[in-house]
Amino acid sequence: LFARGLATEASSSRMPPYPKLVRNLEQVRRVLGSERALTLAEKILYAHLDNAEESLLTGTNNGRDVRGKANLKLKPDRVAMQDASAQMALLQFMSCGLPSTAVPASIHCDHMIVGERGADTDLPASIKGNSEVFDFLESAAKRYGIEFWPPGAGIIHQSVLENYAAPGLMMLGTDSHTPNGGGLGAIAIGVGGADAVDALVDAPWELKAPKVLGVRLEGQLSGWASPKDIILHLAGKLTVRGGTGFVVEYHGPGVETLSCTGMATCCNMGAEVGATTSIFPFSPSMVPYLQSTHRGHVAEAAAEVAAAGPSSLLRADTKAEYDQLVTINLSELEPHINGPFTPDLSVPLSKFADTVREKKWPETFGAGLIGSCTNSSYEDMTRAENLVKQASAAGLKPKADFFITPGSEQIRATLDRDQTLNTFSEAGGVVLANACGPCIGQWKRTDGVPKGEDNAIFTSYNRNFPGRNDGNRQTMNFLASPELVTALAYSGSTTFNPMTDSLITPSGETFKFQPPSGFDLPSAGFEEGNPNFLPTAAVPDASAEVIVSPTSDRLALLEPFAPFPKGDLSGLQVLYKVKGQCTTDTISAAGPWLKYKGHLPNISANTLIGAVNAATGETNVAYDEAGKSYGIPELAEQWKDRGIEWLVVAEDNYGEGSAREHAALQPRYLGGRVIVSKSFARIHETNLKKQGVVPLTFANREDYDRIDACDKVDTVGLYDVLQAGGQGEAQLRVTKQKTGEQFVVSVNHTLSKDQCAFILAGSALNLLAKKANA
Ligand code: F3S
Repeated sequence: LFARGLATEASSSRMPPYPKLVRNLEQVRRVLGSERALTLAEKILYAHLDNAEESLLTGTNNGRDVRGKANLKLKPDRVAMQDASAQMALLQFMSCGLPSTAVPASIHCDHMIVGERGADTDLPASIKGNSEVFDFLESAAKRYGIEFWPPGAGIIHQSVLENYAAPGLMMLGTDSHTPNGGGLGAIAIGVGGADAVDALVDAPWELKAPKVLGVRLEGQLSGWASPKDIILHLAGKLTVRGGTGFVVEYHGPGVETLSCTGMATCCNMGAEVGATTSIFPFSPSMVPYLQSTHRGHVAEAAAEVAAAGPSSLLRADTKAEYDQLVTINLSELEPHINGPFTPDLSVPLSKFADTVREKKWPETFGAGLIGSCTNSSYEDMTRAENLVKQASAAGLKPKADFFITPGSEQIRATLDRDQTLNTFSEAGGVVLANACGPCIGQWKRTDGVPKGEDNAIFTSYNRNFPGRNDGNRQTMNFLASPELVTALAYSGSTTFNPMTDSLITPSGETFKFQPPSGFDLPSAGFEEGNPNFLPTAAVPDASAEVIVSPTSDRLALLEPFAPFPKGDLSGLQVLYKVKGQCTTDTISAAGPWLKYKGHLPNISANTLIGAVNAATGETNVAYDEAGKSYGIPELAEQWKDRGIEWLVVAEDNYGEGSAREHAALQPRYLGGRVIVSKSFARIHETNLKKQGVVPLTFANREDYDRIDACDKVDTVGLYDVLQAGGQGEAQLRVTKQKTGEQFVVSVNHTLSKDQCAFILAGSALNLLAKKANA
């Protein structure tokens, strides 16, 4: 094991660069005019611009329409990566040949740990099964000066909250729930590995300026209502798409009544409404949280910045305007239960029993699971403990299986010291490893529910799409607060309402739960826990060897892609014409393929396997020039071997769904050069350009109907467009495979100057490597 060292109060890398950010904000105000009121999200984002003038004034009606229009080029302060996505991010970073990361970064081993019988047995088994990946990550971290949090240390977002997030910080994380850091006033955005690499190599990271959705909180939570219910309620109001293109910015008097970790829960699940991120302003509960997590110096500095009041970097201007506004009165907020299968199906607790009966959902459930990155704070766990103590005193035991996932070693050790875990264990609860486990499908269920059978579980997690927890698509996962999940576990009934209903104790008496109570923070401070779970020091070591076995089937070093030829692309063939929706999951499926995330050749065997053939309606059936059928990746592989480069023809919103960079890397690896579609999902379109694939859209949508699989395509004018930095127009010359007929179709592009340079170099990484080594 490499030397490990805990961050101390003096650790400067954990301090946001406040003086610089405050100066940058002044510059932003000069650019936009001092009379312009700014939201908090705008202040922090724009204070991280590489060149405020260029980003805020280009294409924005001279700075009047920044939100939704400007292309922000940002310089984040920090990057965090989880073990599954860190593999490709690091492999890409390595190919740039830099000695260390440009910004502080951390790796968290959490996604590959199974939850089955408990931490003591599950953790060693998972380490053994994934040792080559963990060894690679640890050795690369040592080489490049990245803090490495080993398996068992905790879940990325909890560790980030406890160690790195801070008011005014801007960070990227290679995981959707990175916005959790917004609970501490940070702009924390979930991205794919290629975006993280931008920050790691000091290239500006691009983001279309988000709109801002204000959530005004009034009143104060009480009784059974918890911060989780704020976001469960909001998800129901906004739906899973309602936050797309927005930052959710909380404000109003209710903010000051919430704990810091409660605010993190709200921000965490902002991902469920599709928001770019979520954020809270600097508030009183942030100070004790920072102090108790060894960052008193950050608390002091942030308080000083915030002392300037609403005009400061850490709060919204008094007259800030929101593109949309939702108001929630916390005093009237009821606990909610969301699901199954989608996080926006939100039902207030008082109506849930009726809904269960009406929809014929199961009336019993098998397991209650609390904790995870979303809800394993000291407040969450002590409130759940309070309920367990009430029930235990009455002689009750949970009727459903009861699992507890601490979010980090720090919280686990603290709860252990304070006897909370003991209370759970004595009641029959199983404490799992400090890792994702059941939240990401790493749950080996032992209660004998057969695959394919309808059944229900309750969790305090954040996602509930089919198969998410136990791999059974029939398992209905209902999301609720940890308190509610705990109380429900004692009834085993989905129709139980602990606010109104009673249970019968073994001695035949009636028992009713009292509303839970707990503590925001431990009065004796946080425990450090097992020292083996502390991170490695962030000091690069050029002599450290990065461990990648040449025979590994899970990791492979990346070979740079070839540069664009000196002229237009000719002789491309249409590999596949896709009908209908084509998400990043269609292009690069997850599930069992996830274990190959660090091995581009192996994971490429899933390329486009979910795509529907426009000619035949078959899925993953492609035909070669002779009419012989193949799986799509097999045909692509065969053409690659024959030196035939190809393109894909597609319909609307190609690449929707996620920032998964594999969906761009894999086609490129297999010889894909162009995707021509009716339209693209924005993030995927950018990802394609980064990997050197040219995304084009039909100028006339009907031209989609004129091109078929195996037709030959040459680009016309594309090389000139690339050389002119995105100026000019391109066309495609199509030669029908069956008849030899030729025609030209007009296409549009959104290539910027920088993106043209990526494509000419072969990929963004090639360009970065060239610059780094110049
Ligand atoms: Fe892990 Fe689930 Fe959070 S997978 S990072 S615990 S959303």
